[in-house]
Amino acid sequence: MSGAPGPARGVAVTPVTGLPEIAAGDDLAAMIAAAVPGLDDGDILVITSKIISKAEGRVIRAGREQAIEAETARVVARRGPTTIAQTRHGLVLAAAGVDASNTAPGTVVLLPEDPDGSARQLRKGLRERRGARIGVIITDTMGRPWRTGQTDTAIGAAGVVPLRDHRGQADTFGSLLEVTMAAVADEIAGAADLVKGKTRQVPVAIVRGLADLVTDADGPGAAALIRPAAEDMFRLGAADVLAARRTVREFTADPVSPEAVRRAVAAAVTAPAPHHSEPWRFALVESERARRALLDDMLDAWTADLRGDGFTAEQIARRVRRGEPLRRAPLIIVPCLVTEAAHAYPDARRAAAERAMFVVAMGAAVQNLLVALAVEGLGSCWVSSTLFCQPQAAASLGLPAGWEPMGAVGVGHPAGPPPDRPPRDPERYLLAR
Ligand SMILES: Cc1cc2nc3c(=O)[nH]c(=O)nc-3n(C[C@H](O)[C@H](O)[C@H](O)COP(=O)(O)O)c2cc1C
Repeated sequence: MSGAPGPARGVAVTPVTGLPEIAAGDDLAAMIAAAVPGLDDGDILVITSKIISKAEGRVIRAGREQAIEAETARVVARRGPTTIAQTRHGLVLAAAGVDASNTAPGTVVLLPEDPDGSARQLRKGLRERRGARIGVIITDTMGRPWRTGQTDTAIGAAGVVPLRDHRGQADTFGSLLEVTMAAVADEIAGAADLVKGKTRQVPVAIVRGLADLVTDADGPGAAALIRPAAEDMFRLGAADVLAARRTVREFTADPVSPEAVRRAVAAAVTAPAPHHSEPWRFALVESERARRALLDDMLDAWTADLRGDGFTAEQIARRVRRGEPLRRAPLIIVPCLVTEAAHAYPDARRAAAERAMFVVAMGAAVQNLLVALAVEGLGSCWVSSTLFCQPQAAASLGLPAGWEPMGAVGVGHPAGPPPDRPPRDPERYLLAR
């Protein structure tokens, strides 16, 4: 790449042998300083996180599953015995980084508490002992979702540039590079793994020839390699996609992308429905005029009902405040049911069952819609509203004949995270026969 700094004479990766088995409380800097044959300014010391964990006492007597649960901030995917989880550090990896290999039976090794902090400490300790201005990278092994096999990556770093930003530079043809950010700390971790290796009991390597990546300051560390959630296009894994939908009642003023809404509607209409029918329609209440007309007409209908129930004006005012999530939402979608494909029955029992089939199919489509909106980063609130005043809502929106409004969905960017909801125990909802 033109203009990119780089080693003129290649890179040498050398294993550091002769380190003993590490135990809690060991002075790793002293042990590595004694084992490393030469350490020059500009060298990068690459060390497997497992021995950092062992020295820091992160080996615990616990079951693997129990340890994984304790280390997990978010389950991303699960299949059979494999759990892919995000840790408190933000790393996404198998078993939340919990490792039962190369440790005494009955114990498991957890990732270091603060890998960047551990890297800074080790760098300082080696500088004190060997005087060299080096970089330190702490590694862990990770799989990649779309590639077979694992490679080592940097989970902690100090004194090393973690990312080399090529954005804005010209390539060899003079075109501007728009997205290239070389994850050099990960590349170094991968290179070092070629000489370290889990089965060879070599947890440390020295990488020489990349002095241009070694900095005076400790720098941002490997935390800089964690993609911010807002930029993560694959944030939701198979395990947490459904849990991502929560009722959101407070929104920011940011507009809702029409493309995102179309993608969500496309997902909605993959729902199951009786008789191979397609009974779902969606009215998008986009204009301020249509929104105000709908909300005001619904309010009038609701107020009339409550007055009919005998509520006082004050009680009515309190109750109708519940309709406010829709007023605060940047977009309202009114899901509508069309039952023209329903079969006619002469008796009330079968007619009611037939109607129920279409109503539940509508519920399936709305759930799809809400989940798909959540995947787009949009919050939603499905409220009863239009269901209780279908004729008024249909008239207000000018709906085609046969479109029955089935509530309304407020959509927008969530103003904050939803409240915690403890997981529900499936046993409470089950009956086996
Ligand atoms: C058919 C239906 C009607 C609903 N009506 C209202 C409503 O009128 N007002 C409201 O604030 N929430 C309404 N909700 C949302 C529920 O209160 C919400 O789903 C529940 O609190 C659980 O929260 P969660 O969606 O975050 O899991 C409705 C939900 C459904 C499915």
